[in-house]
Amino acid sequence: MKALLSRQAGGPETLTLEDVADPAPGPGQVLIAMRACGLNFPDALLIRDLYQLRPPRPFSPGGEVAGIVVDVGREVTHVRAGDRVLAMPGLGGLATRVVADAAMCVKIPAAMSFEHGAALLVTYGTVHYGLSRRARIRAGESLLVLGAGGGIGLAAVELGRACGARVIAAASTQAKVDAALARGASTGFVYPTGEAAGDGRQLAQLFKLHCGAQGVDVVCDPVGGVYAEAALRSMAWGGRYLVIGFAAGDIPRIPLNLPLLKGCDIQGVLYGAHAQRDPAAVKVEIGELLALYAEGAIQPHISARFPLSQGGAAIAAIASRQALGKLVVVNEE
Ligand SMILES: NC(=O)c1ccc[n+]([C@@H]2O[C@H](COP(=O)([O-])OP(=O)(O)OC[C@H]3O[C@@H](n4cnc5c(N)ncnc54)[C@H](OP(=O)(O)O)[C@@H]3O)[C@@H](O)[C@H]2O)c1
Repeated sequence: MKALLSRQAGGPETLTLEDVADPAPGPGQVLIAMRACGLNFPDALLIRDLYQLRPPRPFSPGGEVAGIVVDVGREVTHVRAGDRVLAMPGLGGLATRVVADAAMCVKIPAAMSFEHGAALLVTYGTVHYGLSRRARIRAGESLLVLGAGGGIGLAAVELGRACGARVIAAASTQAKVDAALARGASTGFVYPTGEAAGDGRQLAQLFKLHCGAQGVDVVCDPVGGVYAEAALRSMAWGGRYLVIGFAAGDIPRIPLNLPLLKGCDIQGVLYGAHAQRDPAAVKVEIGELLALYAEGAIQPHISARFPLSQGGAAIAAIASRQALGKLVVVNEE
């Protein structure tokens, strides 16, 4: 089989396409012929050794895939060879054959393309868990989405709208805000970047202007940096602030008087850990996502497709803040 491998820590240019031996599924595992692999921000960190996980090398990045089951290991009964499935292996997706834990491998409906299947779990799964199980968002509440044109961001816009929330999209360019508006955000605004962003207190003036005097009920934050404090300062009493990631690079240091004054909660969302700790709950959540997809309430926005050999270019686009929605590697072998 072919695999795009990371043999040394570095940028996407260090990945090499190689012939390697086909893996075999162990007990509780599934071997999948990859048809599509969704790329995510963690892939850009993993290959540079900047992620919380440091897998032994060589490894292939690529945390989520869709394809056809080739073989299953012992104890796997819910899928079998020939099934069309999606899975979240966490690693190894940029290869023509992928081994994934059966617990995070589910059949996809005939109407779902492999590309959509490969673009569902990491972003929609994370946000669905965050909005529905952590923030317990209710219809009629307001939801501020940071980085609203990214993978997590557009998923949050769609899922927020599907919950009946009023979605405010915030992003660094008008094109990203427009993408969020097209996916159901009620309103949106562009935030400054670099030195122009100032500090969190200064930036809060802009955020408050767009979030209104009452403040926002829920914040979905996959960006961090200076934007986090500005968003927290714009919250309503009793709000819930979802910490999803730190794409801006800096892990914000939040003045603890803010959640006190706002009577709000800061809630961490770590989907991979949630999936490991409570696979039964995640199974239910994935079922809910597939139902939302079937209804047409959500549909991953895939802005670019790449062949396996160009998987590094997809990761480079994500790392340089250029990606819109999801980028997917497609294997047509
Ligand atoms: N907690 C979890 O379980 C979980 C699951 C999946 C992902 N994540 C995390 O969520 C974050 C977003 O992931 P994603 O896959 O949605 O990424 P993405 O598609 O690249 O979106 C991230 C967004 O962050 C913003 N950003 C700000 N500064 C940036 C920078 N220096 N470089 C790149 N982007 C920057 C960009 O929006 P603007 O340009 O509009 O600011 C970008 O659209 C990452 O930190 C990822 O690790 C967490």
